[in-house]
Amino acid sequence: MRVIVLRWGHRPRDFRVTSHVALTARAFGASGIIIADVSDKTIEETLRKVVEEWGGPFSVEMGVPWRRCIKEWRDNGGVTVHLTVYGENIQTSDVMNRIRSSGRDLLILVGSRKVPSEFYKPEFSDFNVAVGNQPHSEVAALAVFLDRLFNGEELSRVFSGAKLRVFPSKHGKKILKVSA
Ligand SMILES: C[S@@+](CC[C@H](N)C(=O)[O-])C[C@H]1O[C@@H](n2cnc3c(N)ncnc32)[C@H](O)[C@@H]1O
Repeated sequence: MRVIVLRWGHRPRDFRVTSHVALTARAFGASGIIIADVSDKTIEETLRKVVEEWGGPFSVEMGVPWRRCIKEWRDNGGVTVHLTVYGENIQTSDVMNRIRSSGRDLLILVGSRKVPSEFYKPEFSDFNVAVGNQPHSEVAALAVFLDRLFNGEELSRVFSGAKLRVFPSKHGKKILKVSA
């Protein structure tokens, strides 16, 4: 199952939050991120460097109008999962089972400020999923959702093409330089 994150509502002054959404997507098993509607060279460069040093694959696309992105994804047979405080609770409902049993590629939509009301509608979101029904953050919601989707297996993944790898230690910081 291919999983891509669609970040809606990026503002250049939100640079850190959007880059944290992207780093979280990569570290927690998504294959790429699409930043809707705007292009931001700083983020593109940051992510390119992370993938170059720490491995991939992880795709980065920017500036695609969000409606078009969702339409193309669904036309190609994928489903969309909108992470929202108002959605079906990931803990108390069977929504994750239904998402998994769709067996389809997932486009995960995360917002920033208030998202357009269309996001909640079935024409755009096949699933509206709440990581608990308390407001928090797109970074937290994405991490928990992906970790549950992949049952934690993404945390032991080895990234291909990495030049750097952490050697897990009880104390201190050890980094391995991987030769090509
Ligand atoms: C800081 S919140 C924005 C809240 C905004 N005031 C609103 O009314 O939509 C940014 C994003 O975090 C995600 N989010 C926040 N809390 C969530 C929750 N409990 N479950 C799932 N996603 C959540 C959603 O994707 C939301 O668009």
